[in-house]
This record gives sequence, C-alpha cells and structure tokens, in this order.
Amino acid sequence: MKKCPKCENEFPDDYLFCPKCGGKFSSHDLAGFEEIDDSNLMVAGYDLHKSYLMGKNAVNALRGVDLKVKIGDFISIMGPSGSGKSTLMHLLGGLDKPSRGHIVIRQPTGLPEKKGSLQDISNLSKEALSEIRLHISGFVFQQFYLLPTLSAAENISIPLIFSGNKSSLVKQRTDQLLELVGLSMRGHHLPSELSGGEQQRVAIARALANDPPLILADEPTGDLDSRTGHMIMEMLKNLNEMGKTIVMVTHDQSVAGFARTKYEMMDGKFINKNQ
Ligand SMILES: Nc1ncnc2c1ncn2[C@@H]1O[C@H](COP(=O)(O)OP(=O)(O)OP(=O)(O)O)[C@@H](O)[C@H]1O
Ligand SMILES: [Mg+2]
Repeated sequence: MKKCPKCENEFPDDYLFCPKCGGKFSSHDLAGFEEIDDSNLMVAGYDLHKSYLMGKNAVNALRGVDLKVKIGDFISIMGPSGSGKSTLMHLLGGLDKPSRGHIVIRQPTGLPEKKGSLQDISNLSKEALSEIRLHISGFVFQQFYLLPTLSAAENISIPLIFSGNKSSLVKQRTDQLLELVGLSMRGHHLPSELSGGEQQRVAIARALANDPPLILADEPTGDLDSRTGHMIMEMLKNLNEMGKTIVMVTHDQSVAGFARTKYEMMDGKFINKNQ
C-alpha cells in the first residue's frame, strides 16, 4: 500500500491515481512511483463506481472496479445479468463517466511503433469523449445498432465522415473495411437485407473505421447462432492478432475461451480472474 501525499489516503501500490482525491503522482511526489510499469497499458480503471438515480433510490451498478488492460490484450468479462458489465464497458470506452474513480486511456500517435501518453478521461466534456470514441475505442454491441435506412457502406462511413475525412478517402477506406470483413459485394445492401452475422460484420467494420487501438465488444455473439457467433469470434481473434486490444462481455463460456484473461463480475465488482 502507498500513502497519498496530498490526502493521506492509503491505496494499492500499482495505482497511478489516488482514488480518494484523484491526485496523479509523479516520481517526485511519491517514492517508488517509478517502479510502476504503465508502459504497456491501453486502458485502466481505478476504483470505479457508478450509481444511477431511479426515482429516490440509487442503483449502484459498479462498486469499486479495478482493471488494467495491456496493449494487445484480449479480455473477457462474464457475470449475471445486472452485474454491471455493460456499465463498465461504457466507462472504459468513454460512453459515460464514473461517479467515482478514474479511467486512463492511451492516446494514439498514428505511428504503430510509437506509444502515446495516458490520459485521464474520467471528467472529460461530451465533445472530448466523442473524440475518444471516434479515434480510440470502437464499440460492437449485441444488437448491432446499424442505422436501418443507410446501406452497409454508409453505416461504415459515418465515423469516417465525422472525423472530417475527404469523400475520396471515405470511399477508399470504406471499401477497404468492407473487404476486411468479407462484405465487398454487399456494401449497397440495407441492414434488413443482411443476415445477423453480416450485420455484425458491418458493425465491426464501423468500429474499426478510424483504426482505433481498442475494441469494446458487449455480447457480440449474443444475437447470433453458434456457428455464426464462432465466425465473429474468429474475426475478433484475427483483429487481436493484428494488434487490436479487445475487451469483450459474454454470457457464453466457449466465447470467453477466445480471451487471454477472463474476469467474472458480480454485484458491480470483479469476483474472479483467470489467465
Ligand atoms: N441508465 C441507467 N439508469 C438506471 N439504472 C441503470 C442504467 N444502466 C444500468 N442500470 C442498472 O445498473 C445495473 C447494471 O446494469 P448493466 O447494464 O451494467 O448490467 P449487465 O451486467 O450488462 O447486464 P446484462 O447481462 O443483462 O446486459 C442494473 O441494475 C441496471 O438496471
Ligand atoms: Mg449488458
């Protein structure tokens, strides 16, 4: 345990932040800080709490989660319905903010050989968080969430347009992504004209649009039959082998088997970790 020099709170050795006062420490502030190896961290949560107000009652969806995800890791999170899995994913990817605790995420540099610095995203504005979602964390959901009136290609191109690319580049990158997910011939189809597996492949391509280093997949095979689900998992496995860091929620043991590190959640906390 280390003692925070600002508020005297005690916290585990490998924390980069004091969970009580939020102070970030350099080696000048805290003896031994330089021993902390954060050089390979992609995203981390420290003492994460999230409460929702339902009428007069507070729902404590997260009750103190600590998680370190290394660059290139593949993590699965299992747990009963309501245990806080989706809430945690939303915090890690900048879709929501914690009520308490901190999230740090690594900024991309655009150069594969160069690592960006870690940034605390716990208190960013909505605009800054949407930049994180565009460039750092790509989401894949159980229900695909494709826009029904847009074609597969148009769905994939949305994040490319939002990040201000020229139309020729949008077209070129969209074609590349359609090819990557094996749907070059189906780009002009509406989601309703595609199978579930094909729709999830479009959603994966959309998540990859701006080449984010982190993919957050919340039950990506939940609405698919087991053979199609397996195909989607092979795709995520290939992406991980290509260097993407993956955090995935699943209810399915065989799907979790694709991950390198397996966490179990219960009542807003991790109760188990298997490597
Ligand atoms: N926006 C919200 N407002 C109020 N309560 C919420 C909200 N989002 C989640 N919750 C509550 O927080 C708890 C955790 O929800 P969460 O969606 O993270 O669970 P989960 O583990 O993903 O469950 P499932 O396996 O069913 O998807 C639940 O009790 C849920 O009702
Ligand atoms: Mg969920």
